Amino acid sequence: MSDGITQLAQDVLKSGTLTGLPQHLFIDGKPVKAASGNRMETFDPGSGRAFAQFDLANAEDVNRAVQSSHKALMGAWRITKPAERSAILCRMGALMRRDLARLSVAETLDSGKTLNEAQWDVLASARMFEYYGGLADKLQGSTIPLGLDYLSYTIAEPVGVTAHIIPWNYPTSTIVRGIAPALAAGCTVVCKPAETTPMTALMIAALLTEAGLPDGVCNIITGTGPEAGAALVAHPLVRHITFTGSVPTGIATMKSAADHVASVTLELGGKSPMVVLNDADIDAAVEGARWAIYSNAGQVCSAGSRLIVERKVHAEMVEKFAKASKSLRVGHGLRNLDIGAVNSLLQLGRIEANVNDAKARGLSIAAGGSSVHDPQTGKGWFFEPTIIDDVGLNDRLVQEEIFGPVMVVQVVDSYEEAVEAANCTQFALAAGIYTKDVTKALRFARDVDAGQVYINEYYAGGIEVPFGGNRNSGFGREKGLDGVKAYLRTKAVTARL
Ligand code: NAI
Ligand code: MG
Repeated sequence: MSDGITQLAQDVLKSGTLTGLPQHLFIDGKPVKAASGNRMETFDPGSGRAFAQFDLANAEDVNRAVQSSHKALMGAWRITKPAERSAILCRMGALMRRDLARLSVAETLDSGKTLNEAQWDVLASARMFEYYGGLADKLQGSTIPLGLDYLSYTIAEPVGVTAHIIPWNYPTSTIVRGIAPALAAGCTVVCKPAETTPMTALMIAALLTEAGLPDGVCNIITGTGPEAGAALVAHPLVRHITFTGSVPTGIATMKSAADHVASVTLELGGKSPMVVLNDADIDAAVEGARWAIYSNAGQVCSAGSRLIVERKVHAEMVEKFAKASKSLRVGHGLRNLDIGAVNSLLQLGRIEANVNDAKARGLSIAAGGSSVHDPQTGKGWFFEPTIIDDVGLNDRLVQEEIFGPVMVVQVVDSYEEAVEAANCTQFALAAGIYTKDVTKALRFARDVDAGQVYINEYYAGGIEVPFGGNRNSGFGREKGLDGVKAYLRTKAVTARL
């Protein structure tokens, strides 16, 4: 953590806000007031206080943004050479590093996460711009052999105007993992950040303009899901929608896309298993479980939220993990302790209701179990790192996403039972396994239904590795080379010679 970030964090903790935050929508390369003039407050979850306001877009604003993106698609962006697209994206990576302190502090203030986590997200996002910047001039088609009398070839074309619906858990890295490949492919974008975390999306759009992105290529609409979000995904000029969020809203988005035959990428929830077999390195598994469920206060779609343990090591694993959990310090993200705030009072209530239900039913709480305040200020929205032990396969705590720092433990008697438990929910996003037996680890990778499998390190991977889910966790892949596919379509040209 550089001195610059620490100093800025201290200043913001004192003043309660960051100066110079964006005020309005971002359309056609500049801030634009919402048509209705309506505004909403955004809160600092670490203190529970509002620190800024933002504009609420309606259908008229959304139309303006989509028209702007359509014009740029047919105009300035179409004639920008791929090598120049590449240079703009790479410059954007450098600008994010230059503004690391401001972006990280803004992200922490708006989302509640720790400054360390915000900094990782900003740096990973800078890398994503550079990664897809490197790809922008390598998206080529092929020639198809039809014999001497024909010439047949394909062109990798941009799909068109793309819409990006962003959640509040990873505001910066989710927007960037969608727009970096979209821009590399030659698409234009309109993004709607979540109601509780609008700030960094607006900052990113302004930085893209500074990096040389033509006006209208990236437009940002802040506002509510039911008004601005729904109008965006329903707009007939939108050709692809990248959605990250809840299952019901994902389904509604897909239905809306169907009305104008737009394609969708859905990155929905999860209830991902982390399996610990009898022969595992238990200390490594404890460390893995700590990151799996307590990163971002558990508000992670791919969180390892179910600890599936073989019976022989169950007691040792839970005891050591409970001890580790109790040692973690919660507090305002800008003070950069171990666990930050929960993003909203609404989400805190959802987590609390789940844990209260476990308590009421007499389930064993091995650590935590309550909502708390920042111990230094007595304010903010926090939840203790929590473990609910020995829960049955069909229990709703096993079946439903909690989206908070709550690990649910399932005990099994064999490898086969572990696989059955791993696959027992509607979700199939991520899965982890801890074992020294390479064969069992690779069999698990074969047998588990998940978009990504982590062996002996939960979350192992990076921006280069494709990410996405199966079944109710959604479909389509983001990140890595796969991440650009949704933004390209093939045109086949065949000539009779
Ligand atoms: P949500 O799915 O309603 O919100 C996600 C995004 O969709 C936000 O930007 C929101 O404004 C937008 N949205 C809402 N209604 C819309 C509509 N009709 N049309 C277009 N966009 C719309 O999720 P919410 O209510 O914030 O969280 C509920 C639960 O969803 C969480 O408790 C968690 O379980 C899950 N979730 C999963 C995420 C993931 O990373 N997969 C991220 C956020 C939430
Ligand atoms: Mg906020």
